[in-house]
Amino acid sequence: MPVEIAPSILTADFANLERELDRIASADWVHLDVMDGHFVPNLTIGPPVVRQIVRVAPMPADVHLMIDNPDEFAPQYADIGAASVTFHWEATKAPLRLAREIRRRGAKAAVALNPATPVAVLENLLEEVDMVLIMSVEPGFGGQSFIEQSLVKLAQAKALIAGRAVKLQIDGGVSRGNIGSIARAGADIVVAGAAVFGSDDPAGEITALREATR
Ligand code: DX5
Ligand code: ZN
Repeated sequence: MPVEIAPSILTADFANLERELDRIASADWVHLDVMDGHFVPNLTIGPPVVRQIVRVAPMPADVHLMIDNPDEFAPQYADIGAASVTFHWEATKAPLRLAREIRRRGAKAAVALNPATPVAVLENLLEEVDMVLIMSVEPGFGGQSFIEQSLVKLAQAKALIAGRAVKLQIDGGVSRGNIGSIARAGADIVVAGAAVFGSDDPAGEITALREATR
């Protein structure tokens, strides 16, 4: 299976989002980073903007919630049309109940792990989620450099997932230079923000990222 590319709009032009989405129309997903100024020291968008993006986006929306209390706030993102909703393991009180609730509302459910969280916490979650997100930077900002230890975590997570239909995603500091090793370590879906939107030709960069995994 080829690696799927999910550009993060965090580095996009927020005053022209519909145009920015057209520039990445060849992507498999659009990755939407929701930050609340509490779980992470940055504040981005919430349900009203996500709803409008879902309405105009030519690809499915992958919503990454970097928020406190996802148990209360995550399910509504399924209701407004997110194809996939990711909550952080570090923020949820009841991950199994939350994953079930997101699925019940028609979206894929995913759990994210911060760089310092060991993959062992996934062990009793894997039957209930569709995707695991390994953070390869501390969440909060685009344009940070890739934490190399994430390659080991990817391989460990892949081994835990074994034969299950659970996708493995990586987010943070991905570039043409490291996407080959990331794919070899087992990632199915790769988020890339600065690499795509920092380029003059986002569509060309998506193609280059795909080619760098072959
Ligand atoms: C970081 C976000 C990422 C980020 C990725 O907190 O979750 O999605 O925007 O951007 P780059 O690829 O620039 O690290
Ligand atoms: Zn993200």
